Amino acid sequence: PTAPDEPSFQQRIDAGIKIEPRDWMPEGYRKTLVRQISQHAHSEIVGQLPEGNWITRAPTLRRKSILLAKVQDEAGHGLYLYSAAETLGAAREDLLTDLHSGRAKYSSIFNYPTLSWADIGAIGWLVDGSAIINQIPLCRCSYGPYARAMVRVCKEEAFHQRQGFDIMLTLCRGTPEQRSMAQDALDRWWWPSVMMHGPRDEDSVNSAQSMQWKIKLHSNDELRQKFIDQTVPQAEFLGLTIPDPGLKWNAERQHYDYGEPNWQEFWNVIKGGGPCNRERLRARVKAYEDGAWVRAAALAHAEKRAKRQP
Ligand code: ACO
Repeated sequence: PTAPDEPSFQQRIDAGIKIEPRDWMPEGYRKTLVRQISQHAHSEIVGQLPEGNWITRAPTLRRKSILLAKVQDEAGHGLYLYSAAETLGAAREDLLTDLHSGRAKYSSIFNYPTLSWADIGAIGWLVDGSAIINQIPLCRCSYGPYARAMVRVCKEEAFHQRQGFDIMLTLCRGTPEQRSMAQDALDRWWWPSVMMHGPRDEDSVNSAQSMQWKIKLHSNDELRQKFIDQTVPQAEFLGLTIPDPGLKWNAERQHYDYGEPNWQEFWNVIKGGGPCNRERLRARVKAYEDGAWVRAAALAHAEKRAKRQP
């Protein structure tokens, strides 16, 4: 049993004790978690759309079955995460209503179009690569159900990242046209992937409190740097050029320096003005409406069964 006061709550966090659904927690902690976990869930669900676009056009049966499995994994991640949000008292219906009305946020990255098969490689390599860097530390975050959900999610993301890199490698070892498709995909996905880690630390309104509560373990800029440092040698191995003239190894810092992303584009995408925001929301609303009969049938079935009980 926990004493319901903030100092002892913070002491438990500092001592590395996990917070569980029935434990006392400050209202702000609960709200921040519901915000982050639901945004994360929405990202997984909306994240199925850019890749779903290529399931029917995958170049081989093997690539198609891998992509299908991957997109299904994303659906599963969304469901674990909605369940984690429910342990905090959030109603799934409300979370979905907020997504469908455009009130809720989801990751900026999923508002860009997938124009060629190489984009599926670039998403796996860069976007799932970013997701792992962000989510491995979340396995150690302070809220038990979120931390535990992340363990399996990260294992699956590692497979997603490798399948993406494998697509890129195959294209880069292929014909000149295939190599230029790979380069074009990198050119379009690089900056959105860099920005996916969130605003610069000085513009990140939630970081300080979230880090104190160990809802976040690293800042946005720290994770962005890690992503860049990890990805540059992979691009070199592929023989591709990262579209940032400011990218340069800094021996003193032992990190890559990099150019400034277009933050105006980032905020515009978050506000709903990205290239695919409207299309993504329309697809989610349609899927929800098309599924209404399944929910009605499941409810009717449950009611019938309940009546049959002696
Ligand atoms: N896309 C959309 N919104 C974003 C993004 C982004 N890439 N980055 C930041 N934001 C939003 C934040 O949600 C916040 O908005 P809010 O206060 O209205 O909720 C605002 O911009 C300011 O940013 P921060 O203060 O830095 O927000 P936060 O501390 O929540 O950090 C981060 C953002 C790093 C994304 C964090 O929430 C996080 O680690 N989330 C869990 C992982 C996740 O959601 N990943 C989604 C994509 S991974 C995948 O699905 C493959």
